[in-house]
Amino acid sequence: MTKQREYKVRRTCWQFVLLILFLQLAIAPALPMTYANKITASTSDQHPPIGWSSWNSFSNLVDAKIIMAQAKAMATNGMKDAGYQYVNIDEGWWLGKRDSAGNIVVDLHQWPALALGEQAGDMANIVKFIHGLGLKAGIYTDAGESGCSYYGPDLGPRMPHTGSEGHYEQDFLQFAKWGFDYVKVDWCGGSNENLDPAVQYARIAHAIQDAEVRTGHSLYFSICNWGANSPWTWAPGIGGVEADIWRTTGDIVAPIVANTRNAGRRASFKGVLGNFDGNIHPEAQHTGFFNDPDMMMVGMPGLSNAQSQSHLTLWAVSGAPLIIGADLTKLNPDVLRMLTNPEVIGVDQDPLGVQCTRVSELSPGLEVWSKRLTTGPDGYARRAIVLLNRTGNAERIAVTWPELGLQTAPTSVRNLWKRENVGIFQTGYSAMVPAGTAEMFLVEGSEAPPLGHLHATVVHGQRGNLAWSFFGIKPITPFTWIRVHYSNISGAACGIDLDVNDMRQSGIVLPPTANGQDDSVTIALKLAVRTRSSGISFRGHGCSSLTIGTLEVLAGK
Ligand code: GLA
Repeated sequence: MTKQREYKVRRTCWQFVLLILFLQLAIAPALPMTYANKITASTSDQHPPIGWSSWNSFSNLVDAKIIMAQAKAMATNGMKDAGYQYVNIDEGWWLGKRDSAGNIVVDLHQWPALALGEQAGDMANIVKFIHGLGLKAGIYTDAGESGCSYYGPDLGPRMPHTGSEGHYEQDFLQFAKWGFDYVKVDWCGGSNENLDPAVQYARIAHAIQDAEVRTGHSLYFSICNWGANSPWTWAPGIGGVEADIWRTTGDIVAPIVANTRNAGRRASFKGVLGNFDGNIHPEAQHTGFFNDPDMMMVGMPGLSNAQSQSHLTLWAVSGAPLIIGADLTKLNPDVLRMLTNPEVIGVDQDPLGVQCTRVSELSPGLEVWSKRLTTGPDGYARRAIVLLNRTGNAERIAVTWPELGLQTAPTSVRNLWKRENVGIFQTGYSAMVPAGTAEMFLVEGSEAPPLGHLHATVVHGQRGNLAWSFFGIKPITPFTWIRVHYSNISGAACGIDLDVNDMRQSGIVLPPTANGQDDSVTIALKLAVRTRSSGISFRGHGCSSLTIGTLEVLAGK
């Protein structure tokens, strides 16, 4: 597997440097802690993808003109500076034609030459344009023989043969040769042909790896099968990939395309909440793998500005891919300000890379969610918390520090949307939350001592194929957080299967560590509540220089 993935975090570190510089300036020195000036407390620092996709606002009417306008907008409206990277071309770019050798053939008018010396019909043209703006380019296909534009076209005629089945190696190699950096693989064909998604997406992962090896170019893998067959159980690290995302839910809404018969469609906050809830699988989200609750509707018809802000809040605290669906050339200034809030984006992109968990539900519809963030070099623990009010009335929502795994001790609270410090609180915090909205705060305090340390009790298998087992973990509901200390001096990332009571729960990747030094990754375990004490095992494959040491069972939900 390419080394680019292992080190891609370094390519995006500048976003965090900006965030940290800002926070160092913004937080008063009287506070007991500040954001870290060193951002990688752990090497498990991977970030969810962040960018834009053509689907929500343009459906299958996408062409070079639209993509160029959107890419230019992203490069110049502050989004690129805020960290947005991907310009993703979704369905409709290809009408299903191949030449006699099976190569994809695209429409010459839809994808013309964009510069001197270029040929019409060469997708490398648009990639070069996007890259020329300092952005990355994404493309789309289906795992089946025909894609969604055949089974249920949104606008335009039915398009058969718009999938990659039977051409995986050829198509993914082509995408990499064109220079694309990201590929989303849909499931309309797969589903209609009754294919097994775990099998099919593993084949695709291998085709992507082959393409990467042959071209030296990375393709980020975005699985889009809407949660069918629970991808969170098989998608992390599928086929040995070191970073990927998988959709967990259906589309929030079908595309809302101006000046078409579908212009009247509306997003709803109820739909946004449904996808947020369906996406909560923290046991699968760590070390570069992310649950994907769908592209965002922020700034699109149907959502008020307050609902757009709450939508972004929920995606950020989920550490979800932040792929914007709105027309970037028409964003209102309030929405643009939201999308470029560095502190909110910083929560989403935090290098620990984990998802939020629900800390409490005080009464139906009044909830506290918390996302663990990287610890600063000063040792202070950080959480992004969301107070979510699903009810129709403004309500007060409270949280205590021990619920977050923090000590009862002076702890700072910062309002991330207002970008102001709220104060220092000894035992917890509460705030009034308007009806149907979510408020987000940064909490920095002292980590509560771990509930326990476990040492491997069984190590078996061949060198390079070892398993480390730990027994006696008492479940915390709904998720038990653990920190895994390990060393990996192989120079390459190690893919590990994580089993809970002999059932595979997830795949994790342990990045290389410096010789003689240990590192850690933080993961959430989903342990059966009725089982009073559980066992977990890490099974390594071909990792001859890996050692897994202690597990810390962390306090808090
Ligand atoms: C599915 C996906 C969407 C989009 C469309 C294209 O519905 O979930 O994100 O890619 O297909 O048809």
